[in-house]
Amino acid sequence: MSLLIRGGTVVNAEQMMRADVLTDDSGKIAAVGENLAAPAGAEIIDAGGAYVMPGGIDPHTHMQLPFMGTVASDDFYTGTAAALAGGTTMIIDFVIPSPKQSLIEAYDTWRGWAEKAAADYSFHVAVTWWDDSVHRDMGTLVKERGVNSFKHFMAYKNAIMCEDEVLVNSFSRAWELGALCTVHAENGELVYHLQKKLLAQGINGPEGHPLSRPPEVEGEAANRAIRIAQVLGVPLYIVHVSCKEALDAITRARNEGQRVYGEVLAGHLVVDDSVYRNPDFRFAAAHVMSPPFRSKEHQEHLWRGLMGGNLQTTATDHCCFCEPQKAAGKNDFTKIPNGTGGVEDRMMVLWDQGVRTGRLTPMEFVKVTSANTAQIFNLYPRKGCIQAGADADIVVWDPEGTKTISAKTHHQKIDFNIFEGMNVTGIPVHTISRGKLVYTKGDLRAVQGAGRYVDRPSYAPYFDALEKANALKAAKAVERV
Ligand code: URP
Ligand code: ZN
Ligand code: ZN
Ligand code: ZN
Repeated sequence: MSLLIRGGTVVNAEQMMRADVLTDDSGKIAAVGENLAAPAGAEIIDAGGAYVMPGGIDPHTHMQLPFMGTVASDDFYTGTAAALAGGTTMIIDFVIPSPKQSLIEAYDTWRGWAEKAAADYSFHVAVTWWDDSVHRDMGTLVKERGVNSFKHFMAYKNAIMCEDEVLVNSFSRAWELGALCTVHAENGELVYHLQKKLLAQGINGPEGHPLSRPPEVEGEAANRAIRIAQVLGVPLYIVHVSCKEALDAITRARNEGQRVYGEVLAGHLVVDDSVYRNPDFRFAAAHVMSPPFRSKEHQEHLWRGLMGGNLQTTATDHCCFCEPQKAAGKNDFTKIPNGTGGVEDRMMVLWDQGVRTGRLTPMEFVKVTSANTAQIFNLYPRKGCIQAGADADIVVWDPEGTKTISAKTHHQKIDFNIFEGMNVTGIPVHTISRGKLVYTKGDLRAVQGAGRYVDRPSYAPYFDALEKANALKAAKAVERV
């Protein structure tokens, strides 16, 4: 069955135009143009007064992640269903092998969990340790399993943290394979040191969380990863950039011609660090995530990074833990499972605080919510673009529609919302996933298992550019007679 989305303004990263959009029964966009005729049996969606945009892609989620002694409460079905309710039609989640666990075994486990997803998905794979089997498995993942990005945690000492040796080995191997390395940038050794010091001082509540992870800790790790990537001549993507220090490291590197990308979370753009001083443990602990929320000053820098193009993507790091799970750290903030939700809210928060404030144009909104992610992770223009032949992942957006975000009404399987009470203007009216109407005017019709795994080919276009740049700088031996 096909859909005809009629009378809207199509917004792509590069242009906006009045056009109808027709989908076909294979889940692709068949045509984009003026006054398209409806094929027999087509369902017509009235998009008068609305924007018709690529569905959001959230490049950073953790559905049902086993983490810090518990498991994230939103699974691949409930989490992707919530995403669809918010206009996000694809996630890139993370396979996180335990140290010494085979990467392929972990990947197969995550693929099994994700079969129930209601929206399309793909995986970054974390490299948490190193030996020859990891080197080999990275090759298998890229050549046979559609993986083109690897993740490295520079924090979480005694768990999944990578030392520099792993970073150097993995970054080098990824480059051979045409895959992008990503990092969670926080100096885990310093975090560990500060955590112990704070606990010894008697600071054991959630206020200890940001104190143990100050911006310098993030700035140091971001800069270290950037410099390692620079020496190796490889591209780098830094996840959840939360502070001026990390952004400055990215900006400096980009100004020096280095290919470094930065991601910012909707939460870091609008939630500030006063939440950790709330006397209610439940409230403060619900905001414990890493890196932590920062002061308003950092938020303004992050917005400028996004507007100026030094941060290219927005995400959520959706990793939900409910009150009983957070209670594990009642007497010790280091035991509070790190993570918050937001996959359903990101697009609305970005529109309300980005487009309605004049920080972003609708086209820039598309860039930072889908198109840039699709380009960086080599999915473009299959995803992140409204054009004939692309996947029919579409959101019909009412720029004047309003809503109050609340845990009482959201679809995310978490008993808290970090955007609670925020009145947003600009909401999804219809979400279309692979040509199927899965959310319409408040009615969520997500289907368990309807999401598909999306292969991402290696060698995104910037690899070729970087190969050329590296060749000009290649080391040469001196020829002696
Ligand atoms: O606190 C967070 N961010 N939890 C999820 C794991 C990670 O660091 O991304
Ligand atoms: Zn992280
Ligand atoms: Zn400043
Ligand atoms: Zn994460």
